[in-house]
Amino acid sequence: MPNEKPKFYLTTPIYYTNGLPHIGHTYTTVIADAIRRYKRMRGYEVVMTTGTDEHGVNVERAAQKAGIPESEYVARMAVAWKALWDELGIPADEFIRTTDIRHVRTVQWLFKLCKENGYVYKGNYTGQYCIYDNAFVTDAKPGDNCPDCGRPTETVTEENYYFKLSAFQKPLLDFYKKNPHFIQPETRKNEIISFVEGGLKDLSITRTTVRWGIPVPGEEPHVFYVWFDALTAYLSAVGGPDYEKRGFWPCDLHLVGKDIIRFHSVYWPAFLMAAMLPVPKQVWAHGWFLMDASKMSKSKGNVVLPRPIANMLGMDAMRYFLMREVVFGQDGNFSYDALVTRYNSDLANGLGNLASRTAAMIEKNFGGQIPKPGPRLPQDDALAKVASEAIGEALDRFEKFEFARSLETIWAAITAADKYLTSEQPWAMGDSEADTQRKATVLWTTTELLRVVTVLAHPVLPDSTAKVWTLLGQPGRISAVELDGLRWGQLVARVQLGKAQALFPRVDKQEAIERIESMANEELNPTQPPAQAAAPAPAATAGGAAAAPAPEKIGIEDFTKVEMRVGQIKTAERIVGADKLLKLTVDIGTEIRQICAGIAQFYEPEKLIGRKVAVVVNLAPRKLRGVESNGMIVAASVGPEGRPVLAGFPDEDVEIGARLK
Ligand code: MSP
Repeated sequence: MPNEKPKFYLTTPIYYTNGLPHIGHTYTTVIADAIRRYKRMRGYEVVMTTGTDEHGVNVERAAQKAGIPESEYVARMAVAWKALWDELGIPADEFIRTTDIRHVRTVQWLFKLCKENGYVYKGNYTGQYCIYDNAFVTDAKPGDNCPDCGRPTETVTEENYYFKLSAFQKPLLDFYKKNPHFIQPETRKNEIISFVEGGLKDLSITRTTVRWGIPVPGEEPHVFYVWFDALTAYLSAVGGPDYEKRGFWPCDLHLVGKDIIRFHSVYWPAFLMAAMLPVPKQVWAHGWFLMDASKMSKSKGNVVLPRPIANMLGMDAMRYFLMREVVFGQDGNFSYDALVTRYNSDLANGLGNLASRTAAMIEKNFGGQIPKPGPRLPQDDALAKVASEAIGEALDRFEKFEFARSLETIWAAITAADKYLTSEQPWAMGDSEADTQRKATVLWTTTELLRVVTVLAHPVLPDSTAKVWTLLGQPGRISAVELDGLRWGQLVARVQLGKAQALFPRVDKQEAIERIESMANEELNPTQPPAQAAAPAPAATAGGAAAAPAPEKIGIEDFTKVEMRVGQIKTAERIVGADKLLKLTVDIGTEIRQICAGIAQFYEPEKLIGRKVAVVVNLAPRKLRGVESNGMIVAASVGPEGRPVLAGFPDEDVEIGARLK
C-alpha cells in the first residue's frame, strides 16, 4: 500500500446568512486557513470546512423584508460569503450550506439514530426565546432581555421533540477527563466542566413555530432546531452517513468563537454519543475582536470589513495582524492605527526590507547569483544558531496555536539578520579576493536566514512568502517544503535570483486609514452600483487620493436624485489623528448638520466660519475616522494631487438652504 498521508479535518463555524462577513468572521477563517497550510507542510492531507447556516426565524424575517422567498435569499447570501472567502484567498475545501441536500439527509439520519437509541421523546415547552440567537433563554421571565445579545425575548410554547441531554452528564464529564485537550483553552474547559457539573436539562430539538427549517420526516410541521441542524453540517461536509468512506471523521479541530463553545463542547458530543458516532477530537474557542471594547455588530455601526483592508494593504497584512496582535484565545481590540503601524514596522521595514536589500546586494556584487559562502566567523555561526533555534521554537509554538508567539520568534530572527548586516556592513567592503569572499559569506548567511523565516512564515503570509521564494530562485513551490525537514544550510547557492516583486510598500498611516475607511463606508452604504462598491470614494469628504472612474452619461432623473443645498459653515475644527479632515457643523436651512471634509491641509478652520458652501444633503451618513459625517461639501479637485477648492457663491448673497439645480 502506498504511503498514505495522515488526515486532518478542521472546521470554522458555519456563518449565519442574515448578515455579511466582518473581520470577526474573517478571523476564524484566516486562522483555519493558516492551520490548514501549516498541516499540509507537515505532511497531512487536510480538509477545511466552512459554510453557511441558513435556517431559522431570522432568515425568514430577512427574506420577508427583502421581499423574496427564503430559498432565494439564502442562495444569494451563500454566494456572497463564498465569493468573499475565494476573493480573500481563504476558500474552504468543503463549503457546506444547511440547505444542501447532502446536509438535510445527514440531519434526518442523525435524528433517526438518536431516536432509535432511545434519546429522543415528545413533550411541551414554554419559555422565553431569543430569536436572534435562536435559543431559549434558561431561567428568563416574560419581558426579560436575552443575556447574550441584550435584545427582548419572546414567550414561546410549543410541542417538540426533546433530546435527553440530562442522560449525558456523566458520559460527558468522563469524556472530558479522558480527553483533557478536548476543550481549549483551559479557562473555557473549566467553565464548561462546571456548567455540566451543575446539571443538564433536556433540550428541545424540533420546532413547530418555525417554518424555514429541515423537516422532521413524517412529523411535519416539526422542523429541526437550528443548532441540531447547524452542528451536523460538520459531518455532512465529509460524507454524512457515509463518513467512513472519506475517512475524515471524527473531526480533529472545531475552531469557534467563545460565544458558541457550549454548543460545540456539550450539545454536539452528546448528539454524537447518542447516535453512537465518533466524537470530535478538539474544540478550540478564540476570543473576540472588539471595537471600542464592544462586540462588532452592524446595528452598532462598528463593524470592520475585511475587503477594504485587503485592498489597501494586501491580504497577507491582514492575516499577519490578526494572528500577531492578539493572543489566540483572548479578546483583543481592533484598531486601524495598530494595523497600519504593524504593517509598516514588521512587514515593510521587517521582512520586505530584508528581502529587497539582500537581493539588491546580491545583484550588485554577484550578478544576481546567490554566492557560495567562504570560511565562517563566529558572528555567522551566531546568526545560524538564531535561525536554527527559531525553526524549533516557531514550529513548537504554532503547533500549540500560540500564533502570536510563533510570529514573534520569526520576527526576532529577522531583527537579528538586520543587526548582523548593520554590523558586518557588506556594502562597505571592497573588491579584493578576501573582501569578496567575506561578502559572499555574509550575503549567503543572510539569504539563508531569509529562506528559513520565509518558509516558517508561509502558513501566515502565503502570498508574500511565495514571492520571496521566487525571488530567491529556490526550487519547487514554497508550499511543498516539508517543515519537518527544514534545517539551516539547505539554501541552494549558485542559483540566479528570480524576479523581484513589490512585497510591502510603505504607506502613509493617515492616508491608508482614510482610504480603508472610505472604502468601508462605500461598501456599507454604496453610492454606486455594486460592481464598483469596493472602489474608493471621491476626494472631497474622504480626503482619499483615488480618482473617480470616468462617469457615464446620466439622465436628469438621476441628477435630481442628488439633493444639493446652500449651507453655511458654523464651526470648524481639526480631528485629532486625521490631518486631512475637518469636522464642520453646517446650517442647511432646515437643520444644522455635522459633516467631515477632507480639506484640512488647504483651509484654516477659523477662516471657514460663516462661509457659504454647496452641500449634498441626502447622502447616507457615514463615519470617517470614527466621526459621523452627515452630508458632503462639494469641492473641485485640482491638480494631480487633487487639491480641494470649495465651490462657492461669490456673486450674490444666496439664501441658506436654497436648492442647487
Ligand atoms: N451560525 C452559528 C454557528 C453555527 S456552527 C455549527 C453562528 N454564526 S455567526 O455568524 O454568528 O458567528 C460565527 C462565528 O463568528 C462565531 O464563532 C463567533 O464567535 C464569530 N465572531 C463573530 N463576531 C466576532 C468578533 N467580533 N470577533 C471574533 N469572532 C467573532 O454563531
